[in-house]
Amino acid sequence: MISKFFRNNVRLIRRHIHTATGSNRTSSLVRFIGASFVGGSILVGYNWLKQNEVHMASGSVNKLASVTRYMAEPITDRKALDANQSDMKCRMEELVMKIQHNFCRSLEAEEHFGKKFLVDRWERAEGGGGITCVLQDGDVFEKAGVNISVVHGNLPKGAIQQMRSRGKQLAEGDLPFFAVGVSAVIHPRNPMIPTIHFNYRYFEVTDSTGEKQWWFGGGTDLTPYYLNEEDAKHFHRTLKEACDPFDRTYYPKFKEWCDKYFFIPHRNESRGVGGIFFDDLDGPDAEKAFDFVSSCAHSVIPSYLPLVQRHKNDAYGTRQRDWQLLRRGRYVEFNLIYDRGTKFGLYTPGARYESILMSLPLQAKWEYMNIPPQGTEEAAVVEVLRKPKNWLDL
Ligand SMILES: *[C@@H]1O[C@H](CO)[C@@H](O)[C@H](O)[C@H]1NC(C)=O
Ligand SMILES: *[C@@H]1O[C@H](CO)[C@@H](O)[C@H](O)[C@H]1NC(C)=O
Ligand SMILES: *[C@@H]1O[C@H](CO)[C@@H](O)[C@H](O)[C@H]1NC(C)=O
Repeated sequence: MISKFFRNNVRLIRRHIHTATGSNRTSSLVRFIGASFVGGSILVGYNWLKQNEVHMASGSVNKLASVTRYMAEPITDRKALDANQSDMKCRMEELVMKIQHNFCRSLEAEEHFGKKFLVDRWERAEGGGGITCVLQDGDVFEKAGVNISVVHGNLPKGAIQQMRSRGKQLAEGDLPFFAVGVSAVIHPRNPMIPTIHFNYRYFEVTDSTGEKQWWFGGGTDLTPYYLNEEDAKHFHRTLKEACDPFDRTYYPKFKEWCDKYFFIPHRNESRGVGGIFFDDLDGPDAEKAFDFVSSCAHSVIPSYLPLVQRHKNDAYGTRQRDWQLLRRGRYVEFNLIYDRGTKFGLYTPGARYESILMSLPLQAKWEYMNIPPQGTEEAAVVEVLRKPKNWLDL
C-alpha cells in the first residue's frame, strides 16, 4: 500500500539513497522527508485566530497581525491559508504554528531574566520551508528548540518502485506529496526539571489514480534525571486525559508504543519515563484524527509547565548536575544512534545539520562505568528506566 510505504518512508528512502544514483532529485526529496519526519504535527486554531483578528482589527496590516500571533510569517502564503480553511494541510499548518507560538511564549515566561527564542525562518527552493526557534543559555532553559516544517514536492521513481515492491500497483510518474509537523526538545538547567520531547505531524500523498492517502503521527515523552512519581503521574494523566475522549484504547496502546520506541538497546534501558507515541493514524476519519492530534498537542503545556514551575527554583549541587550531564549523554546516544529522524536527516546530502542537531543538549558527559550505588536517588531512576512502569495503575 502506498500509505504503508509512507509509514516506512524513512527506512525505505534511506535505502534508496544508498542504492541510487544520488541524483539531485532524490536528495532533495530525502531532505524534505527528513525534515518533515523529524519535524512533527496538529488542530485548527481558528477560534483563537478569529479572536486575535478582532483584537488586531483596529490595528494595521495583516502582516503585523500574523507575526504577532505566530513566531514568524506562515510558510504557506497567508492568503492561501485563509482561502483554504477547510483543507487539512492548511488547518494543520495553522495548528503547528499555533502550538509553536504558544509553547515558545510559555517557556519564555518562565525565564527570570527575559531570555527569548531566536527565530530562524527558512524556505526550501523545492517548496515549503520551516521555522526553527531556539532559546539557548537561558537561566531556566539551557537549550530549548521548537521547530515546525511545511514541505511538499514529488515522490521520485525510486520511491514508486518501493511501493510497487510492496504490492501497490502505481503508474510511472511523480506523486505529489505534502508533510507538516512541529517538534521540540527542551533541556532545562535545573536537574530536578525533566527534559520533554514532542512531535506531531501530518502526511498526504496523492497516488496515480488521483486518490489521496493521508495519516498523522506524533507523541510526547518525558526524561527525568531524578524520579518524582508525582511529576510522572501528572504527565501521564494529562496525556491520558487528552486521549480518552477519542478512544479509551489510545492511551494504553500509545504508551506502550512509546516505551518500545524510546528504548536504548545497548544499555537495555528506556530513554525516559515514556509518554505516548503513535504513527500511521488514519482513522476513524480525518476530522476525528485531526481533533485527536490537536488534543494531544494542546496537552503539551499543561503536562509540562507545572513541572517547570514546581522545580525551577529547587536547590541542587554538583552531584545532581553531574548526574544530569551523564543522563544527557544517554539522551545523545539515543538520538544519534537510534532516532530515525536524526539519522535520516544527517544522511541527507546538504542536510540542515544545525536544525537536525538542535535536539542535542548544550552540555553532556560520559564517564567510564558509572554505576550509581544501590539505594541512591540516582539508582532509583535507573531502576525505573530498566522496567517501564504503569504510572496510572491501569
Ligand atoms: C527542524 O527543522 C529542520 C530544518 O531546518 C529539520 O531538518 C529538522 O529535522 C528539524 N528538527 C527538529 C528537532 O524538529
Ligand atoms: C487553496 O489551496 C489550493 C491547493 O490546496 C491552492 O491551489 C489554491 O491556490 C489555494 N487558494 C488560494 C486562494 O491560494
Ligand atoms: C534487560 O533488562 C530486563 C529488565 O530488567 C531483563 O529482564 C533482561 O534480561 C535484560 N536484557 C539483557 C540483554 O540484559
